[in-house]
Amino acid sequence: MRMSTAALLCSVYTAGSTAAFAPALLTRRYSSSSSTLSATTNPLQSIFLTPETAKACIDAAGGTPLYAYSIDKLEEAADACLAFPNAYGLTVRYAMKACPNASILKYFHSKNIHVDASSGFEVRRAMDAGVPAENISLSTQELPEDFAALVDMGVKLNACSVSQLERFGEHYAGKGAKVGVRVNPGVGSGGFSASTTGFSKTNVGGPSSSFGIWHELVTDGTVPDIVERYGLEVERIHTHIGSGSDPEIWQQVATKSLSFCKVFPTVKTMNLGGGYKVGRNKGEVTTDLQKIGKPVADAFKKFAEKEGRELQMEIEPGTYLVAMAGALVSKVQDKVHTTGENSHTFLKLDAGMTDVLRPSLYGAVHPITILPGSGNSADVGDETESVVVVGHCCESGDLMTPAPGEPEQLAEQELRAAAVGDILVMDGSGAYCSGMSTKNYNSFPEAPEVLVDKAGKAHLIRKRQTLSQIYENEISVEGVF
Ligand SMILES: *Cc1c(COP(=O)(O)O)cnc(C)c1O
Ligand SMILES: *[C@@H]1O[C@H](CO)[C@@H](O)[C@H](O)[C@H]1NC(C)=O
Ligand SMILES: *[C@@H]1O[C@H](CO)[C@@H](O)[C@H](O)[C@H]1NC(C)=O
Repeated sequence: MRMSTAALLCSVYTAGSTAAFAPALLTRRYSSSSSTLSATTNPLQSIFLTPETAKACIDAAGGTPLYAYSIDKLEEAADACLAFPNAYGLTVRYAMKACPNASILKYFHSKNIHVDASSGFEVRRAMDAGVPAENISLSTQELPEDFAALVDMGVKLNACSVSQLERFGEHYAGKGAKVGVRVNPGVGSGGFSASTTGFSKTNVGGPSSSFGIWHELVTDGTVPDIVERYGLEVERIHTHIGSGSDPEIWQQVATKSLSFCKVFPTVKTMNLGGGYKVGRNKGEVTTDLQKIGKPVADAFKKFAEKEGRELQMEIEPGTYLVAMAGALVSKVQDKVHTTGENSHTFLKLDAGMTDVLRPSLYGAVHPITILPGSGNSADVGDETESVVVVGHCCESGDLMTPAPGEPEQLAEQELRAAAVGDILVMDGSGAYCSGMSTKNYNSFPEAPEVLVDKAGKAHLIRKRQTLSQIYENEISVEGVF
């Protein structure tokens, strides 16, 4: 059985249209892009959800859309990070901005993974979730007014600009206070762009990036002067340039980063940040932590031989720990098509940029799987169709299948032929999705979150937001109009 009459009609209609349009669509798809996109994952299988477990998540959440997280996948990623090769000790920090739900924080805390926070609010949120202050470090673009209260509780602060270091120094003058220094080493990873010095929305190092203290201010004496003036102790050097998956680049980054440790004899820890690339689609590389870690560990050993100091290493992945452990589970709520040049078949979701912003922000491509709305594996057919998937917002930018790295360009994905009412799973949605979205745009409530345990059982970890919660802080004024 397949859903309602409407859905049935739609799928019958689809079958016809696929046959008629397929050659044209295929030509367009292959001629318009140089990507490996068309070779995505098996269109019939999601990364960790079967039709049955997806349905169980929907039941637990009382409908779609929702985010599902897999404990198995979280564990796999956590164990890989904890096994990162190191010479003299390792602390793994979870960059919590990737997915800040308390259950996820608690899970990583149970694995002895510490936290990297990006704002004072994130620090408080992690502490509310039960993470002790001394297990949290803060590297932020906006130093909170109450930073000293956090530091006094045990939070480790990395000064990310000269003025942050000055403010820290003024507060703790003459007390020998310990601080970290985040350095911009002069290059970045390039992010979605090929340039390591140019601007890209995901590049976090180099001259086009505002993150961290520019390296010349460390080597020209500016930073050491401030440190001396206030009697501070630099105990940690921090770099985060999102270095990707190439072992050679990681060795260079480690060597360069270690050179800043030479400037401060008090440094005990070198934090190399995150940025371990995860291949969400077939043909994309996932960073082999063992492979990139060995030359990094060697660089620490070399440093110890030369400088006589055995430095602790810290890494702070966000993406790597959660990206593949999360999926957006939504429903195909409409299906339309256009004809003629540049025409497409469109699937409309009951989710969109309100839940997963990465496609419209970066042109990020996520693997998509259509599962039968019945939640029954027996209903998975083998017919496929090339479609554009869009979100539910009245916004043409609410596009779920952009061309790779091109948020302004749409692309088709070859998916299992969908009927209205089918489940659409968007994998690779654990990082920077529920935590970073245009939530509440068009007054769509924030989607609930479900944790899938090792036995495949779904547990609700965040309820669906109610409509009134969206505007509960609005204040009505009298006599103004
Ligand atoms: C965002 C961030 C990370 C994590 O980056 P990923 O690319 O998600 O691994 C680590 N460190 C800092 C300082 C960050 O801002
Ligand atoms: C995350 O999950 C917890 C349950 O552990 C829930 O109480 C909390 O509201 C959720 N927070 C967010 C905003 O994700
Ligand atoms: C918290 O940090 C302390 C000090 O570094 C460490 O000993 C402890 O293991 C950490 N606890 C957890 C659960 O991460």
